[in-house]
Amino acid sequence: MNPELIKDKVIAITGGGAGLGFATAQALVKLGAKVALLGRRQDVLDKAVAGLGSEHAQGFACDVTKKADVVRAFAALHAHFGKLDGLVNNAGIARPDPVEHMTEEDIVAQLNTNLLGLVFCCQAAIPLLRANGHGLILNLSSATVRHENEISHLAVYAATKAAVDRFSKELREEVKEDRIGVTVFSPGAVFTEFGLGWDPQKMSAALHDWQKKGKTFDGYMKPEVIGSSIAMCFGYPKGVAIEFMEVKPCKITEKPLF
Ligand SMILES: NC(=O)c1ccc[n+]([C@@H]2O[C@H](COP(=O)([O-])OP(=O)(O)OC[C@H]3O[C@@H](n4cnc5c(N)ncnc54)[C@H](OP(=O)(O)O)[C@@H]3O)[C@@H](O)[C@H]2O)c1
Repeated sequence: MNPELIKDKVIAITGGGAGLGFATAQALVKLGAKVALLGRRQDVLDKAVAGLGSEHAQGFACDVTKKADVVRAFAALHAHFGKLDGLVNNAGIARPDPVEHMTEEDIVAQLNTNLLGLVFCCQAAIPLLRANGHGLILNLSSATVRHENEISHLAVYAATKAAVDRFSKELREEVKEDRIGVTVFSPGAVFTEFGLGWDPQKMSAALHDWQKKGKTFDGYMKPEVIGSSIAMCFGYPKGVAIEFMEVKPCKITEKPLF
């Protein structure tokens, strides 16, 4: 990994205004990259751009579940920066609930954001990365796919992330001739806004069930840890890519009693 290779790269980050997306943007800008931040909330994007500096970052209002939004945002970011070197498919949501009771709205929202939105963004990015001569698409997976001691009631969320893993494997084969790499990045738990939109009763039920899985969990990480790890993935020579990276805490922490 050579951080010099990140300098002057243009990277699009979905959900780049907050949480892990913003932490990734901060790490990339620190290494000399330019970032295009995509998200639905204009005020959040504006604040993020102000924090990063408008010479390094631009916001593009976009709901990744809407193909027309995605097409417009990628055209606008390409017109602004003149090229695209990479995409971080980070926008994602979870709605914990036992499968039996999960509402249609929550099921569809998770599938649309975590899988469909990611597919739309890949479709928009591929021609730009091909024209660039090389590139990297990094897709956010989740430790829930591979580890049993994660919070309960996330069957649909974990399934969308498992689908992201499988989709990425196929995509890697399709685009490798164009020297476009595909990375699956799997974080453990991180303190962000991720749980803020959760229904408090459903969250409480999920936490109680999680408690039954055992008294300990692997702990939380700071967003900066994940942001800098994702940024590093862009520091490899043309035609070389990390295929899978998982970053998890390696401390065992007593779970709080709910
Ligand atoms: N936090 C964790 O513990 C954890 C662990 C493993 C994996 N992950 C994954 O990491 C990614 C980021 O999570 P996070 O913790 O940073 O979450 P977060 O703090 O809730 O941030 C999510 C971001 O995604 C954007 N977003 C959501 N829906 C969108 C849509 N339809 N179109 C465009 N942007 C959308 C949000 O912006 P707007 O609301 O403005 O659109 C926000 O910027 C997700 O894919 C998540 O599944 C998180």
